Amino acid sequence: MKSRISRRNFLLGSSTLLAANAVQGIPGTPINLMKSAFAQASIPRPDKMIRMNANENPWGPSRVALRAIYAAIEEASLYSGLTNDMKQLMSEQQDVGPEHISIGSGSGELLKMGGLLASMQEGSIVVPDPTFEDLPRYAENAGTKVIRVPVTSDMQTDLDAMASAIRSDTKLVYLCNPNNPIPSIIEKNALRDFILDVSRDRLVFIDEAYHEFVDNPDYSTMMGLIREGRRNIILTRTASKIHGLAGLRVGFAYSHPDLAAEINNKLTGQLNIIGMRAAYASYKDDEHSKFVLRTTRESLDIVESYLREAGINHVKSNGNFSFIETGHDIAEVQARFREENIAIGRPFPPFRNWARVSMAKPDEMRYFVQTYKKLYG
Ligand SMILES: Cc1ncc(COP(=O)(O)O)c(C=O)c1O
Repeated sequence: MKSRISRRNFLLGSSTLLAANAVQGIPGTPINLMKSAFAQASIPRPDKMIRMNANENPWGPSRVALRAIYAAIEEASLYSGLTNDMKQLMSEQQDVGPEHISIGSGSGELLKMGGLLASMQEGSIVVPDPTFEDLPRYAENAGTKVIRVPVTSDMQTDLDAMASAIRSDTKLVYLCNPNNPIPSIIEKNALRDFILDVSRDRLVFIDEAYHEFVDNPDYSTMMGLIREGRRNIILTRTASKIHGLAGLRVGFAYSHPDLAAEINNKLTGQLNIIGMRAAYASYKDDEHSKFVLRTTRESLDIVESYLREAGINHVKSNGNFSFIETGHDIAEVQARFREENIAIGRPFPPFRNWARVSMAKPDEMRYFVQTYKKLYG
């Protein structure tokens, strides 16, 4: 009975949940009456498409960031500003000197910078497959050979295979931790050893876009390597995810001061004052981040509890998204969810029967679960 109740809890929206509990509370209520009450208590189709396709923050910017944005509108005539203050703030928060820091138009610009640096001499890069494509795609378009190393059968980044795939002409190795679209992490000790070894002769780029969401004792940021002054390592973070500022394009790279100077000289974007003011305010406000983290975990729990109960294969999430083996072609799954006003992630070949689903608000994830059950349950 207990599991049936908890199963209902995530199938029903918060208001309908009250109704459900009320029925349960009436002793002697005929079972078919209870059933029909539950049957009626379904979550209605929302009017607007729910975005579960781009790993965005469903809550938007924090209130303090919004206030900073409104105030900064008046500064829209300025080319930029705040760069030094922002570096100072990041320097204090990360305990690395400001000379280690580059700020990009989103971490996407810094990822492309990695692709550019690798492509300046002929050669190759090594990346996991699948992974986030900004860096590999940019390098490929610039003429670099991209060596893609499949993840292991249990969906982990395969460090041994990546080490073996490195050639004498390999200029850069990209690691995304947690990975995307597979929200798995790389074990911290193996990762540190790998980076120290590989970065002796080539760049290692470590993308920590989802760092703030991880709750896993096997995970650690590699910021310590930057703090130690190690060379040939670029580590990126972003204001797009937990801070909810994806549209305003602010991201950070941390590297040795010599490399940071090279990156800063080659950046092609221009920071915008509105994004910078918003990010500056947001990084000083950990209340919003804590709230986003808590609700993201609640959303993940709603989805993962259902998947576990229903025996649906998925990768336990270390980010703000799930990777689910639906057993159906993703093009069809995407289209059927779209009809229900839910946008889910694009195909990630070769995982044609898997779907990447970004966490929206908890009630929206209850609707997702209800829809999943209706379509494939
Ligand atoms: C792993 C990873 N890195 C970087 C990014 C890009 O973030 P930004 O908005 O900072 O360019 C994303 C966006 O989805 C991502 O998934």
